Amino acid sequence: MASRYPSSWLDELRARSDLVQIVSGYVSLKKNGRKYWGLCPFHGEKTASFSVDGERQLYYCFGCKAGGTVINFIMDIERMDFSEAVAFLAERAHMPLPELENSEEYERRRTQRERLLSANREAARFYNELLYQPEGAASLDYLQKRGLTANVIRRFGLGASPESWTALTDHMLEQGFTLDELRLAGLTVVKGQEEAGQADAPVRYFDMFRNRAMFPIIDMYGNVLAFGGRSLGKQNPKYLNTSDTPVFNKRRGVYAANLLRKQRHLERVVLVEGYMDVISLSQFGVEGVCATLGTALTNEQARLLRRFAPKVYLGYDGDSAGQHAILRGLDILEEEGVPAGVLDFPDRLDPDEFIRRDGAEGFQRLPVISPAAYRLLRLRDAMDLSSQEGKIAYAREAAKVISALDPVEREIHIRDLMVQTGFPRETLLDQLQLSVPGSAAPENAPRKISSSRPSPPSEPGKSKSLAAQEKLISILASGQIPEDIVEEKDFEDDELKSIYMRLIRGESVQSVIDQAPDDASRSRYSEILLSPVAESKDQLITMASECVDKIRKSRIRNRCKELEQQILDCPEERRGELMLELQELRKQLKK
Ligand code: UTP
Ligand code: MN
Repeated sequence: MASRYPSSWLDELRARSDLVQIVSGYVSLKKNGRKYWGLCPFHGEKTASFSVDGERQLYYCFGCKAGGTVINFIMDIERMDFSEAVAFLAERAHMPLPELENSEEYERRRTQRERLLSANREAARFYNELLYQPEGAASLDYLQKRGLTANVIRRFGLGASPESWTALTDHMLEQGFTLDELRLAGLTVVKGQEEAGQADAPVRYFDMFRNRAMFPIIDMYGNVLAFGGRSLGKQNPKYLNTSDTPVFNKRRGVYAANLLRKQRHLERVVLVEGYMDVISLSQFGVEGVCATLGTALTNEQARLLRRFAPKVYLGYDGDSAGQHAILRGLDILEEEGVPAGVLDFPDRLDPDEFIRRDGAEGFQRLPVISPAAYRLLRLRDAMDLSSQEGKIAYAREAAKVISALDPVEREIHIRDLMVQTGFPRETLLDQLQLSVPGSAAPENAPRKISSSRPSPPSEPGKSKSLAAQEKLISILASGQIPEDIVEEKDFEDDELKSIYMRLIRGESVQSVIDQAPDDASRSRYSEILLSPVAESKDQLITMASECVDKIRKSRIRNRCKELEQQILDCPEERRGELMLELQELRKQLKK
C-alpha cells in the first residue's frame, strides 16, 4: 500500500521495529532452522505454520497465506489502517512522525481505497441488520425457503436490500460518506446534471440494490469488496453484481476467499459457479469451496486458487453451459500448471440442487474425473459412435487428448478407445504418433479443436519456469547477486517483472510488499520474497544461474513448439525461414 511517508523514513522505521520482537508480543515463537515459528494469530490452528523470517523481516503463514512486513502485521493484528500502524510503530520506536511528504496521487488512491472499503463494510452491516427487520422479511423468507440455516446466513454475512429507492444511500450519507464515494463503490447510482443536459438540474440518486437478498463478496483479509444481489422472484437479472470499482475486479477474486483462507491443509479447492452453490456445500460441511464472480475462470483466479490447495476440482453445473465452461476451465488450469479434476453432477443438477438431493455422502461419493477422461467423455457425447465416420472422427480427436498423457494413463485410454471404436491397437498407436505435438504431420493432420487442447509433453515446463522466476526474485532480493546475471525479459510474469524492476532500482523488499496493489498480491509477494535457503553467497549465485538457465531454456522450448506449429500451418514459401530459426534454437538448447 502506498504511503505519504518518505521512503527512507519508512525504511528506518522498519529497521527499528524488529519483526521477531514485535510478533513475540502476540505469538510465542520458537526458532527452527533459519526461521521462527508459532501458531498463526490470524486463523485457528494447532500446529505452527506461521513463520517469521528475521533476515528478510517478513512473516508468512503457510496455512492461511497471511503475510507481509512489520507494518502489515500491526495492521492485521491491531486492525489498523496503514497510517495508524505506522504511527503505532513510530511511537514504539520513539521516532517522531516526519513532515508528511506532499505526496500525490498515491495518498489519494490509498485513502480512497480505505474509504470505499469502509463504505462497503458499513453497507454490508446495514443489509445484514435489515434482514431481521420488517423491510428485510421478504429476503429472509427467501433465504430460508432455499434451505439456509441461521448459522450459514451469519457465516456468509448475507443481508437484505429494502424495496426503497434511497434507504441505503440516505443511511450512508448520514454516516458521512459522500455521494461520489457511494457511486465509486457501486452502491449508489447517481444521475447528475450532465445526464439531464442542464447545468441546474438537481442531482438525483438511487440505491443500486433494491429488494434483493444480498451476498457480500469478501476478500482473503475480510474486506468487503462488492456485492451480489439475488432477485427474490423472477425479476431479471437474477443476480445483480457490483461492476468493477477501484477496489473490486471480478476477474481477480473468488467468492468466499475469506473462508478459504481459514481452512488449513486443504487437499483440494472445489470451484463452483454460483454463490448459492458455495453456501449450500458449506452448509452441508464441504470445505474449501469457492466460486468465480459471474465470469468464466481467469488465469489470475487459477493462480490464486493454487495458493490455497495443491489441486482444483471444477464442480460446475451439470447443464451444457456448465460442461462447456469445464472444458475452458481445464484449459486455463492446465496453462497455469494447476492439477485439476472434474466433479460431474448427474441429472443436469447444480451443486446446490445435488447436495440437497443426495446429501454430503452423495457428494463424497462423486467420482473425480481426470481432465483427459473428461475431455474424452465430452468428445464422445458430441459424436455418433454408431457410424464409421463417427468412429474415425472420434479416434482422431481422442488421439490428440491421449497423446499428451503419461504412459500409464495413455495405456488405459488406448484400451478404452479400442473397445469404443473397434480400431486395432496399431492403428490407434499410429494415429497417436501423428498427434504428438511437434511431430511432422502429413496433409490432413488433425485440426485443433479448441476445448480439448492437449498439453504438450513438457507442459509442467511452464509452471517450472514460473517457479524459477519466483525463486530468482527471492535470490535477487538478497542483494548479493551481480545484476548482470538476469535480464528484465527473464520475467514473463508481469507482477514478477515489476518486483524485479523495483528491486534493481534499489527499493527495499519491505517497501515493495507494503506497496502491493491488493491483499492477494501482498500475500503472494510475501511468500515469494521469504529468504531462500542457501549457505553462502557462492551457493546463491549458483542457484540464481540455475534459475536463469531454466527460464531461458523453457522460453526457447516454447518458441520451438510455436515454430513447429507454424511450420505446419504456414504457406510453403515461408517454411524455410521458420525452419532456420527452429534449427538455430535447437542448437542453442543443446549448448
Ligand atoms: P446460475 O444461473 O447458475 O445461478 O448462475 P445459481 O447459482 O444456480 O443461482 P440460484 O440457485 O438460481 O440462486 C451462477 C452464477 O452466475 C452469476 C452469479 O455469480 C451466479 O452465482 N450470475 C448468474 C450473474 O452474475 N447474473 C445472473 O443474472 C445470473
Ligand atoms: Mn442454483
